Amino acid sequence: MTAFDRILTPYAAASRAVPIVPVTAKDFKAELAKLPAAQRRWISQQDFTAKPGAHVLLSSAEGNVEKVYYGQAEANAERDPFEFGRLVRLLPALEYRIVGDLPDASLAVLGGLLEAYSFDRYRKAGAELARLECPKQVDRKEILSAADATGLVRDLINTPASDLGPAELAAAARDVARRFKAKFKVIAGRELERKFPMIYAVGRASPRAPRLIDFTWGPARAPKVTLVGKGVCFDTGGLDIKPPSGMLIMKKDMGGAANVLGLAQMIMAAKLNVRLRVLIPAVENSIDGSAFRPGDVLTSRKGITVEIGNTDAEGRLILADALALADEEKPDLLIDMATLTGAARVALGPDLPPFYTENDAFAAELAAAANAQNDPLWRMPFWRPYYGLFESRIADLNNSSESAYAGSITAALFLKRFVESAKTYVHFDIFGWTPTAKPGRPRGGEAQGMRALFALIRSRYGR
Ligand code: BES
Ligand code: MN
Ligand code: ZN
Repeated sequence: MTAFDRILTPYAAASRAVPIVPVTAKDFKAELAKLPAAQRRWISQQDFTAKPGAHVLLSSAEGNVEKVYYGQAEANAERDPFEFGRLVRLLPALEYRIVGDLPDASLAVLGGLLEAYSFDRYRKAGAELARLECPKQVDRKEILSAADATGLVRDLINTPASDLGPAELAAAARDVARRFKAKFKVIAGRELERKFPMIYAVGRASPRAPRLIDFTWGPARAPKVTLVGKGVCFDTGGLDIKPPSGMLIMKKDMGGAANVLGLAQMIMAAKLNVRLRVLIPAVENSIDGSAFRPGDVLTSRKGITVEIGNTDAEGRLILADALALADEEKPDLLIDMATLTGAARVALGPDLPPFYTENDAFAAELAAAANAQNDPLWRMPFWRPYYGLFESRIADLNNSSESAYAGSITAALFLKRFVESAKTYVHFDIFGWTPTAKPGRPRGGEAQGMRALFALIRSRYGR
């Protein structure tokens, strides 16, 4: 992962960093008039008119980079707040400072860090990037915390299953827990089979044994916030095997686990006043003679019996057992994040994850936080009339609906059956992946909903 603290240098009143001056096309005319004739000619030869997102470099008489103009949209125009961040790749590898106003300097700077991310586990890092001096009004620690958490999420998702199985995912979680002295344990083997039968059933066909990761942090009497993340390190689909196109990026099927680890890291780094618990069922959905089968009936931790309509609907099975455990201690806030359905992508596309909750106040706060953090989310309904879609003729439930419709909603409803006592329950059906790069969002693994949730949890539970 990129070392973000090297890219975002601390604010220094008397720094010699090269100024980046944001200008709208309208204001740039007045700005031009103040420049010497040679620089005006240079700018006009580059055809720079301060169009939003464009930039131009000016040199001093000695030939040093002296100033950068950055074209900015007029107020109220729709622009991606991360767009500014593209400059870290476009400018020469020097140090820069923002001189003037951006609509949201914190997001602009964060965009720079997220743009600077690269996954260099398997090959040398690219060329040196530009550095940004942290603007005075921006909280450097907070931006670095968000960037580090995003880097962790992306690295975990981008790491192929050959190097990230259930054991390696548990080791990554242990690293995070240890840094903040959280109480950490892993349940596996016979105990897992006895207490979490569906996690065991989904994971048992892989030589890389299934397990449940469980860590807690913070004072016992603080509000209980529990995060559950889907940790399918690779999803072949099981006996209902996926076609090649569907299996290609299934290393990302632990994206929910990665996101809750990133969120947990942010919460612990900020020392929020919560009793945090993180639960990650970690499995590989593989195929061999011991694989669970279509038609099998599993008895879940909660006692609800589940007929297997499709072995590829494995995420809801492992989450159901983990959610049942989480629910037993009646948390104030129970959140799960999961790369759960293709249907969520059909509904909202890869960049806009749906979330589900019956708490309207929470939903409104979350939507506002998502906007403010440039971390888009959209509410979808726990639409009870669809409960009928996954009825089984021989068990309490079927894990896949016979209907081809409303796949994300029915998956959400399935999970909800296993949550009764949590005060507020929120489910996220994320993609965890950026298929085509955008500013601050390189192609590959992606954190989704993590920063919005952090902002909300911080505003609710303070520091
Ligand atoms: N991990 C997949 C969901 C997924 C697929 C997320 C593609 C993102 C992109 C999940 O385990 C799955 O296979 N879901 C099935 C459920 C179906 C069998 C009821 C799906 O969505 O097709
Ligand atoms: Mn699946
Ligand atoms: Zn899956």
